[in-house]
Formats: sequence, C-alpha cells, structure tokens
Amino acid sequence: MKNYISLSDIENLDLAIAEGLQLKNNNTVANVGKGKTLGMLFFNPSLRTRLSTEKAAKLLGMEVMVMNADKDGWALEFEDGAIMNSNKAEHIKEAAAVLSQYCDIIAVRAFPGLEDKAKDEEDLVMKSFKKYATVPVVNLESATGHPLQALTDAMTITELQKTKKPKVVLTWAPHPRALPQSVPNSFVEVMQRMDVEFVIANPPGYDLNPQVKKDTKVFHNQDEALKDADFVYVKNWSSYENYGKILSEDSSWTFSEQKVQLTNDAKVMHCLPVRRNVVIDDAVLDSPNSVVIQQAGNRTYAAQVVLKRLLENLE
Ligand code: CP
Repeated sequence: MKNYISLSDIENLDLAIAEGLQLKNNNTVANVGKGKTLGMLFFNPSLRTRLSTEKAAKLLGMEVMVMNADKDGWALEFEDGAIMNSNKAEHIKEAAAVLSQYCDIIAVRAFPGLEDKAKDEEDLVMKSFKKYATVPVVNLESATGHPLQALTDAMTITELQKTKKPKVVLTWAPHPRALPQSVPNSFVEVMQRMDVEFVIANPPGYDLNPQVKKDTKVFHNQDEALKDADFVYVKNWSSYENYGKILSEDSSWTFSEQKVQLTNDAKVMHCLPVRRNVVIDDAVLDSPNSVVIQQAGNRTYAAQVVLKRLLENLE
C-alpha cells in the first residue's frame, strides 16, 4: 500500500480485517515504525480519529506530530496558478514538500464545505496532499470518504457476526446540522465488498451518490428495511441530490427501542460522535444492543493495519 486515500487502496479486504483483529487480540507491539514520524493535520475537529491514530502509530514505535491546521497553520492555497494576493499565505506545493521532509507519513482531515457539490467531489485537499507530498498520505476523513472508519466498521461486523451472511442496514437518522456524506459513502463501499446482505434506508431526497450506491437496494420506509437486520448502522447525512441541504428532521427516523424490536436483535453501530435522543435514543445506546464503544475501540487497530502496511512499503 502506497497511500490510504480511499478504501480501494486495500486490495484484499479480508486480509486487512484479519490482520486488524489479530493486532487487537494479540496486543501486538511492532517495531516497524521505530525512527519514523507520523504528521497529522486537522482542518476539522476530531476525538477518535486523532487519538486512535496517534495510539496506533505509537504502538508501531512511531513518533507523532499533530497540528490543528485550521487554527495554527498558515491558510493554504490549493488552486494551481492562483495569484495569492488575499488571505492564503502558503501554497500546498511548498507546504506538502516541506512536511514530507519532517514526516515519513502525512495524515490529513479535511471536511467538505457542503455548498458546491462539484468542488467537494474534487476532494481537492486530499488529492493535493497526495500530489505534492513525497511520502504516503492517509485520509483521516475527507470531503467524500472516511476509509479508516470503514475498515473499523468491517472489523467490528466481522468480530460480532453470528451468521455467515448477516443482514446489515445503513439507516439515515435526523440531525440538526448538515453533515457530510463521507462516512455513509465509505460504509457503503466497504459493505459492497463484504459477504453481507446490505440495504440502505433513508427518506426521499437523501439517496446517496449513485456512483457510490450502485445497485444497493434503498428503502424509503425504515421499518421495512429493518426487518430481520443483524446489524444496524445509524448515521445522518445531508442531501446529495439537493446538495448539502437538510430536507427532513423527522423524529420518526430516530433510532429507538421500538425500531430495535423490528430487527433480529440487531447490534447497533454509529461512528460517533452521536447526538443522543436525536439520532439514537438513550434506551438503545445504553442497551446491550449498542456496540458503539467497541466500534470506536477498533479504530486503533484499523489505523494500525494501515500505518503498518505503509511503513512496510517505505523505500
Ligand atoms: N468517527 C470519527 O471519525 O470520530 P471523530 O470525528 O471524533 O474523529
């Protein structure tokens, strides 16, 4: 693996999942990262991604440098040929080249603006780091995807599944803020690569990017989709069709105890942070059905697999 920008950078998903679970169960501390440095740049807030990736790097023997790039760094220009006479003080060409001398791997978080679909779909920040850095780049959640979260989710389902081919439902739930489609996009991509019966439930107007969704079945009736589910992944996203807009805050889509009753005693997942009693009710999050804490714990081992593979490929 040369970079981890999207899930497609993992060739053999089953092997990556198995390696992650092995790292977790053997509590393996490898020395492959000794003398190497991970630099993490955050253009947006984070709790899990920041700390689990730092922990993963340290378990591999790496040094870690973290920067809140939105607050502490120079404002970066990403457009080629820009006349930099406004507020952007540094071009990504210099920034990425300089960082590549300080770091052996660069990891970046940069959310979409959710105003200009075409611009967000370019994933300009992540692509520019990949283009101008001379070291591997890791996506810590970009405008269009969150592949570290997706690998974690695949590991969590694998370790908890009781049947060979479980039914997995990704369901939209309400939220007061407009959120990116990055997490659901990557979750859809990873489920399409696993041996699961996978469906999506969302209100009309919330269908995900057709190029991501492909032929995955979409229900506009949540109750119908939840029938016999073994895993339910609850997540809000803003509209893709009416880009970045909140079209509904319908609380009948909030994931409640009554919704769990419709499933096959499903394990309930969420990437976190979660707004209690808006996205998922207390009664579910505080019940044995919820696996959100275990899921967040797996973030460390997913990050460890990715960093280990990148380190093993350094020249
Ligand atoms: N799930 C996730 O990415 O969490 P953070 O935003 O806290 O990193």
